[in-house]
Amino acid sequence: MEKLVIEGGKRLQGRVAAGGSKNAALPVLAACLLAEGTTVLRNVPRLSDVEILLAILRELGCRVERRADDAVEIEVLDESNCTAGYDLVSKMRASVCVLGPLIGRRRRARVSMPGGCVIGVRPIDLHEKGLSALGARMTLERGYLVAEVPAAGLQGTEIFLGGAFGSSVTGTTNVLTAAVYAAGTTVIESAACEPEVVDLAEMLVKMGAKIDGIGSPRLTIQGVRTLKGVEHSVIPDRIEAGTYLAGAAITRGDVTVTDCRPDHLRAASQILREMGMILEAGKTTLRAHHPETPLKPVDLTTLVYPGFPTDLQAQFMAALCVADGISVVTEKIYPDRFMHVPELLRMGAELRKTGSTVVVHGVPHLVGAPVRASDLRASAALVIAGCAAWGETEVHEIHHIDRGYDRIEAKLNGLGAGIRRVK
Ligand code: EPZ
Repeated sequence: MEKLVIEGGKRLQGRVAAGGSKNAALPVLAACLLAEGTTVLRNVPRLSDVEILLAILRELGCRVERRADDAVEIEVLDESNCTAGYDLVSKMRASVCVLGPLIGRRRRARVSMPGGCVIGVRPIDLHEKGLSALGARMTLERGYLVAEVPAAGLQGTEIFLGGAFGSSVTGTTNVLTAAVYAAGTTVIESAACEPEVVDLAEMLVKMGAKIDGIGSPRLTIQGVRTLKGVEHSVIPDRIEAGTYLAGAAITRGDVTVTDCRPDHLRAASQILREMGMILEAGKTTLRAHHPETPLKPVDLTTLVYPGFPTDLQAQFMAALCVADGISVVTEKIYPDRFMHVPELLRMGAELRKTGSTVVVHGVPHLVGAPVRASDLRASAALVIAGCAAWGETEVHEIHHIDRGYDRIEAKLNGLGAGIRRVK
């Protein structure tokens, strides 16, 4: 097992580029199953989660190549296999995003039910509800979700995808990638509005799909008969960018994230300003620098986009651990997403969890300690906490981090961190 050994007491300063968005790349890669010919994708991040999905696409009959210029080429050669097997899907639950394209294009699918993970049960009832409404017959057979589409094909209809948590990101991408081939008109009400859903929809339109309301909670899709391969560049990763800005906050630093989309980070930028950070946005850059005074406490609640993203909750909680006062962090998307809390407590944070709310009593500084990574974003929170803490921090089980961050230690060391990856 590998670990990161982090020498603390560092200020993160300088420029760092955001990579391509993991959560946009996954549904965009899956949607290549819909197209005739070759799709060329740029800005696809080199992450273990992406590699798993590329392996699944090969299993599903695609030619998949990472070119010398770093673009990824996907061409569907054989549509006979429609099973995404347990061994790969169990490694990465978001593989369920092949369900919609398989049902839409091949009219059958056999996808292993995704496992849960440390942040929650991760049900897919909304996915099933939406796909069934289009006419897919879904059954659970020995841990596999089996979908069959009647000979008449998928039929467009009105679908309400709202759930207890507002909407579903991959629920929306699955229903959308099936509806593009459904006869007639489909309306998805309470669709997710995340930038990753917008990125997918924009690529589908380039492929020839007919989608209105992109970016809004109501998507209207006119079914088409075929889609063609295109060139598409995946949007920058707003969560990776937000992670480095939280690093600037916790280390009293000055970080400029380049190759990013400041317009995708409005909620996080607002919270950073309330914490006292000075923000400067360019067209593709976002700079956060620390004022001479201590960080101010804030109340933050995670919500669906454009609200504050749940994927930045842990990283911002780490920064609030050293704010001057009492903050309240409320998690509305995954009520159990607090695996970072016991680890931050080991580093001297003062946190009180009640239900899906954590009260953060700011302390002057954290102290380095051995901690364990768990959920992808909780792990990133521990890394930036280690950069700020006094003394040395060891973050164990860092395979979680590699799922969503491409060489996090290289990028943070480029900002002045002192991180070593040790076998
Ligand atoms: C996506 O997961 C992201 N993953 C997650 O990022 C992110 O945290 C999440 O959206 C919320 O923004 C990818 O895009 C690959 P949801 P997804 O369906 O689509 C409940 C990361 O760190 N729900 O929007 O699985 C669900 O339990 C990952 O990069 C149902 O009840 O999330 C959750 O409470 C972690 N029924 C809420 O809705 C369903 O059928 C939002 O889930 C589906 C979801």
